[in-house]
Amino acid sequence: LRWYDQHRRSLPWRETRDPYRIWLSEIMLQQTRVAAVLDHYRIFLERFPNVQTLAAASEEAVLAAWSGLGYYRRARMLHRCAQQIVEQDGGCFPRNSESLRALPGIGRYTAAAIASIAFAESVAVVDGNVERVLRRLTGIHLTTPQTWQHAQALLADSRPGDFNQAMMELGATVCVPRAPRCPRCPVRKWCATQGGTQGEVARAKPP
Ligand code: ADE
Repeated sequence: LRWYDQHRRSLPWRETRDPYRIWLSEIMLQQTRVAAVLDHYRIFLERFPNVQTLAAASEEAVLAAWSGLGYYRRARMLHRCAQQIVEQDGGCFPRNSESLRALPGIGRYTAAAIASIAFAESVAVVDGNVERVLRRLTGIHLTTPQTWQHAQALLADSRPGDFNQAMMELGATVCVPRAPRCPRCPVRKWCATQGGTQGEVARAKPP
């Protein structure tokens, strides 16, 4: 958390606790690079500033605002999800990961990201970056279910949303796939591989 406080990139979705804005950023960031998301995120929010305006829009308008980001299924699911939130709860987001997960297009990752960042629920998030960080750190080729268990065990009860974002940030900026920047790593002294590639990491025995 100390490292994250000092080194985190300043990104627009980190300036808010609004679940709508956090949800939108997490959906856009799936399969799309941060640089490509930034402009779309700003323009999309100007057009649809809250879940009500998104739910009331036509699908064509939503797809038009999404254009350039690709993977249009994400936009259709986003729209459908907004309509369900407005119909079900008058536009109020469910406040925990379990009920968030029941919504269209919200899987384990997105539910945990929204719940931890917007509502401070102590639930861990694992994406590709976090998987790589945990495999290098432990020196074990953890299976994906094992990475979720491990991330949950490491999660700090204070500031779980920042902790999750710190893990993702570490993978995105320091513990990168090729040529990791180990001298800059805040957890280097606990790391089993010191930047070993995933191929060098031993296969874990099945649980
Ligand atoms: N990738 C997706 N969401 C992220 C977040 N909130 N922080 C860092 N990296 C991310």
